[in-house]
Amino acid sequence: MHPNIQHLYDIANKPSRKVLGLMSGTSLDGLDIALCTIAGAGVHTRVVLEKHTTVPYLQDFREKVLSVFSKQNVSLAQLCVLNPWIAQQHAKMIQDTLASWNIKPNEVDLIASHGQTIFHAPKSLHPHDEFGTATLQIGDGDHIAAGTGIITISDFRQKHIAAGGEGAPLAIYGDYLLCAHPTENRVLLNMGGIANFTFLQANGKLDQVFSTDTGPGNTMMDAYARKHFEGISYDKDAAIAKQGTINNDLLQLLKSDSFFSLAFPKTIGPELFNLDYVNEAQLKLGIVLTHYDIMATLNKFTAETIAEAIQNNMPVNMPFKMFVSGGGMHNPLLMDHLHQLLPHAAIASSIEIGIHPDAKEAILFAILANEAVAGRPLLAGGHSTKTATTMGKISFPH
Ligand SMILES: Nc1ncnc2c1ncn2[C@@H]1O[C@H](COP(=O)(O)OP(=O)(O)O)[C@@H](O)[C@H]1O
Ligand SMILES: [Mg+2]
Repeated sequence: MHPNIQHLYDIANKPSRKVLGLMSGTSLDGLDIALCTIAGAGVHTRVVLEKHTTVPYLQDFREKVLSVFSKQNVSLAQLCVLNPWIAQQHAKMIQDTLASWNIKPNEVDLIASHGQTIFHAPKSLHPHDEFGTATLQIGDGDHIAAGTGIITISDFRQKHIAAGGEGAPLAIYGDYLLCAHPTENRVLLNMGGIANFTFLQANGKLDQVFSTDTGPGNTMMDAYARKHFEGISYDKDAAIAKQGTINNDLLQLLKSDSFFSLAFPKTIGPELFNLDYVNEAQLKLGIVLTHYDIMATLNKFTAETIAEAIQNNMPVNMPFKMFVSGGGMHNPLLMDHLHQLLPHAAIASSIEIGIHPDAKEAILFAILANEAVAGRPLLAGGHSTKTATTMGKISFPH
C-alpha cells in the first residue's frame, strides 16, 4: 500500500481527528480558520472547536482576487497564476496561525479547504442552454498540502454539482449533523456575502432537510459602501444605513429581479447582486437618492429577501428558533429588520447551540472533510442531488 494511503487509512480509523477548516467567502474579508476535534462521523459526529481566527486579507490580496472575481471577462493568464498563488498564501496563513497557537502541523490530521470562489453560475444565470450549473473555486489543494505538510481535502462543490445539485448551499449537511433537534423546529441562517438558510423540522431526517440561498447577505451593502464611502470595507454597525431613509420604490425595484420568482431551492452570487444591479435599479427609478438612503434601502432589501425566503418555505405560523451566523449578524439594523419581519421566530446567535457564529462555515467544511474520510455518502433533502454523495478531493503533501 502507498504510505499516503496507509496514513489516510490510519486517520480514518482514529476515534477522533483534528481537522482545520478553512473558509473564504465572497466578502473577501479574510480567511476563517477553525481547528476542530471531530469524533465519529455521520449522525454520531461530535465537534469541539479548539481554536479559531480570521486572518484578514491585505488590500493587495483582495485586489488580486478582485481582478478575476465574478467578472464575465478576465485574463486567463491571471486566473491561472492566482490558482496556486492563493493556495500558497493560504498555506502561509495556516503556518503562521498554527505557530501562534503553538500547534505543530503534524498534530493536524486534515485540512478542509473551501477555496476562493471566483464564479458561481447556476444554470439560471448563464445564457448557454447546452451547459449546466457550474462553479469555480481556486486556491488548489495540492499547493496547500505541499505548503503545510497536511493532507488537504478541497473543492467540495464540484461533486455536489456532479451529483445533480447546484454546488451550494453545502451548509445543509453540517447543519443537520450538528443542529438537528428532536422537538424544536430550527432555522440556521448564515449571512455572509450571500445569505442562505437551512430548515430543520423537529425530529426530521437528512433527506427532509431544506436549504437554499436567499439572495444578498452583505455583498451589496459592502460593494456600495466601498464604492461611495472613502476608506471603509463595510458599513460597520450599520452606521451609514442608520442615517438614511428607506426608499420604497427603490426597494420594490430591487426585489423585482426574476431570481426572486425562481423556485426554491436556488443559489446565487455577486455575479448578479453587485453594483451594476443597484445602479440599474436606480436608473429605472429615475430620481437620485443620497448614498445614505441607498444604504438604508439595501439593508432593508437584504432583510426582506431573507425573511420572505424563510416564510415561503415554512408552514404558516409554525414557531421556530432561528440561529444566526456569519458577519451579517453583527449588523444591528439588519438584525432589527429580521426581528420585525419574522415575529414567529425566536432569533439568537448560533453560539446558543454551541457554534461560534464567525467560525461556523469553516466548521461545516471541516465536517465535510471528516465525512469524506470517515463517513458515508450523504443524501440531503430538497436539494436536488439525485444520489447520495461524498464531497472533496484529496491532496497528499508528498
Ligand atoms: N460590525 C459589523 N457591522 C456590520 N457588518 C458587519 C460587521 N462585522 C461584519 N460585518 C459584515 O460581515 C461581512 C463578512 O461576513 P462573512 O460571514 O465573513 O462573509 P463571507 O463568508 O462572504 O466571507 C463583512 O464584509 C461585513 O459586511
Ligand atoms: Mg469572511
